[in-house]
Amino acid sequence: MTVTAEPFGRVVTAPAGDLRDIAPATLADWTVAAKVLVLRGVPLLDKADLTTYGESWGEVLTWDFGAVLDLVIEEEPKNYLFGRGDVPFHWDGAFARATPRFFLFQCVRAPAAGGGGETVFSDTTEVIRRAGADLVERWSRTEITYRTEKLKHYGGETTAPLLGKHSVTGETIMRYNEPLDPDHYLNPVWTTVDGLSDAEAAPFLADLSTRLHDPDVCYAHEWRDGDIVVVDNQALLHGRNAFRGSSSRHLQRIQIL
Ligand SMILES: [Fe+2]
Repeated sequence: MTVTAEPFGRVVTAPAGDLRDIAPATLADWTVAAKVLVLRGVPLLDKADLTTYGESWGEVLTWDFGAVLDLVIEEEPKNYLFGRGDVPFHWDGAFARATPRFFLFQCVRAPAAGGGGETVFSDTTEVIRRAGADLVERWSRTEITYRTEKLKHYGGETTAPLLGKHSVTGETIMRYNEPLDPDHYLNPVWTTVDGLSDAEAAPFLADLSTRLHDPDVCYAHEWRDGDIVVVDNQALLHGRNAFRGSSSRHLQRIQIL
């Protein structure tokens, strides 16, 4: 059974006995078409099998923890990804040696109902379609520098053009990490728009965030135990809503280059 999510995304129930029954090329096609593909009723793989499946798909991005990241809530987190607060929009791989085409989550344990922690996806291809030609032209000339301290598995300084091109669809996409204010986040990310002063950059970035957060371009995924979620990391940016109450969650993530 397939259900289309709003405003994008697809939820497919029991498409196969096991993830390994779905050829990686098929999974890639489904994911690019849906942008967010949710598989339900498919048993989760253990970390070794998930890594082997990822390697049959493409090169797996590895970090100091290996290939599979356990995203859990820590009582005294050093990094905001492991805390209870929100995670602003970003793309995976800004501080990596390469940008993954896809990432895949397995939900080992979902938050309690109403407990927040939804992963939110913004469709940048739609953001670009909705912007006027003049703004897109300005975006096309924009490069942004991001700087963060290495407190977990990533960090450093990187400069990226705001717009890019999707390697499969050829669509124009946006690569953007929202700044992380040092007053609110454990590990701030400082964002500089090349060629603009901070005062000039502020309204430019505020407008950008308003466009990215427009509910008409965002899908918020409410996790259920056993969800497998495959994401087109080129078309989308993603973030997370804060948790509510004492709600918690355990996801596992792998990234495919
Ligand atoms: Fe991420």
